[in-house]
Amino acid sequence: MMDLQDKSALVAGGGGGIGRAVALALARAGAKIAVADIAKENAEKVKFEVQSLGMRAMACPVDLTKKAEVDRMVGEIIERFGQIDILVNCQGWDRLEPFVESSEETWEKLLAINFKSVLYTAHAVLPNMISHSFGKIVNISSDAGRVGSSWEAVYAGAKGAVIAFSKTIAREVARYKINVNVVCPGLTETPLLQAVRSQSEQTAKIIDAVTKATPFRRPAQPEEIAEAVLFLTSPQANFITGQTLSVSGGLTMV
Ligand SMILES: NC(=O)c1ccc[n+]([C@@H]2O[C@H](COP(=O)([O-])OP(=O)(O)OC[C@H]3O[C@@H](n4cnc5c(N)ncnc54)[C@H](O)[C@@H]3O)[C@@H](O)[C@H]2O)c1
Repeated sequence: MMDLQDKSALVAGGGGGIGRAVALALARAGAKIAVADIAKENAEKVKFEVQSLGMRAMACPVDLTKKAEVDRMVGEIIERFGQIDILVNCQGWDRLEPFVESSEETWEKLLAINFKSVLYTAHAVLPNMISHSFGKIVNISSDAGRVGSSWEAVYAGAKGAVIAFSKTIAREVARYKINVNVVCPGLTETPLLQAVRSQSEQTAKIIDAVTKATPFRRPAQPEEIAEAVLFLTSPQANFITGQTLSVSGGLTMV
């Protein structure tokens, strides 16, 4: 049984499909949860869901692509919960298009949400984890970041960067008993997947093709991603760091 009693967790992107499932899974294991999301109403909704499980929760409306906002938010969480033991980065955004047709504006947005926000949260939270010699960080990347994915060049680049960054941080902070790992979903039934699917006829076809290329022949449910995250935040994973775990129904096996 995974026990997160007395731990406090920051779930960034906690108002989204995977983030919500992660927040609820960690809360069921006994953690206090800070739900951080730019979608204020969704963050509030998940906060109430966590509270209805009998756990402490706070909602943090924040633009995670703004370093100053992230720093301020982390300060507020530490004031409320005393410390931060767990950080899960679940924020993300994607838009499918051929690289040659994409604009610099889109690249900036993809890099800011999918990569730079991960730097900001880690940079804000790590000093607190180091000061109490404990921490579990799980970053949600994507199988696109491991093997590439058509029409997702910059998204895949950002997700690959999350993996390389996580491995390096894992080496740097192991001496403080801090674990840093990555979970790579494949297709997962969330609002993000819905948005990509309904972008155009071609994107719907791509999603269909990826579903067919998945040995289990279906997208994951967000709860299936959350189970892997829960494991990596638990004492059962104390000796696992710098690892990348695909939870993608076998889509990638390398
Ligand atoms: N759904 C999939 O098929 C899939 C596949 C592989 C990887 N992923 C990754 O999983 C993670 C979770 O995605 P999801 O499918 O739950 O998507 P989602 O859209 O349901 O959730 C993402 C959340 O991030 C929040 N967010 C976006 N920009 C933000 C910002 N600037 N500041 C604060 N919050 C912001 C959104 O409001 C949303 O609540 C993402 O990193 C995504 O790239 C998803």
